[in-house]
Amino acid sequence: MADRLELGKSLEYWQEALELIAGGSQTNSKRPQGYAPGAFPIYVDRAKGCHVWDADGNEYIDYILALGPITLGYCYDAVDNAVRQQLDKGIIFGLLHEVEVRAARLICEMVPCAEMVRFLKGGSEVTSAAARIARAYTGKELILNSGYRGWGDTWTAQHEPPAGRGVPECLRAMVKSFPRDDNEALRDLLTKYDGKVAAVFLDVASGTAAPKEAIQGIRDLCDEFGVLLCFDEIVTGFRLAPGGGQEYYGVTPDLACFAKGIANGMPLACVCGKKQIMQLAADLLISVTYGGECLSLAAVIACLNEYKNAPVFEHTWAQGQRLMDGIKQAGEKNGVPMWCSGLAPMSQPNFHYDDPALNADVWSLFLQETARRGVLIRRGGLLFITYMHKAQDIDQTLAVVDQALSTVAEAVASGDVKQHLHVGDVTESFRSFNR
Ligand SMILES: Cc1ncc(COP(=O)(O)O)c(C=O)c1O
Repeated sequence: MADRLELGKSLEYWQEALELIAGGSQTNSKRPQGYAPGAFPIYVDRAKGCHVWDADGNEYIDYILALGPITLGYCYDAVDNAVRQQLDKGIIFGLLHEVEVRAARLICEMVPCAEMVRFLKGGSEVTSAAARIARAYTGKELILNSGYRGWGDTWTAQHEPPAGRGVPECLRAMVKSFPRDDNEALRDLLTKYDGKVAAVFLDVASGTAAPKEAIQGIRDLCDEFGVLLCFDEIVTGFRLAPGGGQEYYGVTPDLACFAKGIANGMPLACVCGKKQIMQLAADLLISVTYGGECLSLAAVIACLNEYKNAPVFEHTWAQGQRLMDGIKQAGEKNGVPMWCSGLAPMSQPNFHYDDPALNADVWSLFLQETARRGVLIRRGGLLFITYMHKAQDIDQTLAVVDQALSTVAEAVASGDVKQHLHVGDVTESFRSFNR
């Protein structure tokens, strides 16, 4: 195995991108500065199952999975064939298409809170739509939020500069954040702003999984104060269970937002919820040209049928647990404080050195050493498992993690981790906000 990855083409495209694309990429979290720049691939050429090949021809087992949308595996036949069949009929029309109704029907059958849906294109769009629906329904303006909801003004109002620039100052008073698992803190906010709050927004399991009592406690508080509850299921939806985090937790919100797990990578999102709330969306200005785009809706139908009929969730939970357990063991064996928190299909690996600068360097070294051995993991991100991660992929990954952690242990013992790095400057992801 080569000492360093060959990344010539990746680096060449990146230099060109910096000239042509603001920030170099369309998704902040995909910028190379967030991984291990210089020692980690930047451009992908193609993918199949849980494997990707980069622009320089290097092959990897992938746990980044497009930041979550790939649940069944790349180029999954049942979904891709549905897209191809729809492509032969047409992509989008001036009239409606049956796939809209069939996709909506499936979501309402599978998701506990869903009695009506609206389709949009991305996560930020549906969380913003949900906030508008909640405000219109309740006649209140304040939103209490815990975590990342996307780039809409409602949510960006919570960010400090530089990410938070460009948002009208007056919007900052319209959203307050709360620590998700602290029911008392939420009660204090609901008491302080009694009569002003439209809805409470949260994600039940990204990063760390909320204790079940905390989520039930939030539901009870919303009922007590007459406030709507909206689950952002953009990551948990169709990943923890066929009915998402709400099925897994056994707590039904009033509204919910889905995106990443809904179409195995095709761009589609939906806001859904109780009929009496959702039907208000008929009168609001929530309308986009591409919401009824049929390739993605055909993918939704194929994808959700696969979730219903194949043992997708049994598989991702089992393989995810195998990975979490193996990483913990590899950490213990090598004397490196690394383990995963969260839930098996989307666990969160982390290093737990006391010194944050050492943690950051160790992440760089870990990514450098796993990437050069053919495994892609995201710094501080979730380890996503697809239906196509087989036991042998997990075992191969664990062997790589063990070797990488052995190098980490040596480097930490040497007292100079930087000396082992071929990595440029790393910047923290903006998404770590409010986790
Ligand atoms: C929990 C959560 N909500 C909302 C979003 C925003 O989704 P999008 O990037 O599709 O706008 C994301 C994106 O990562 C997310 O993880």
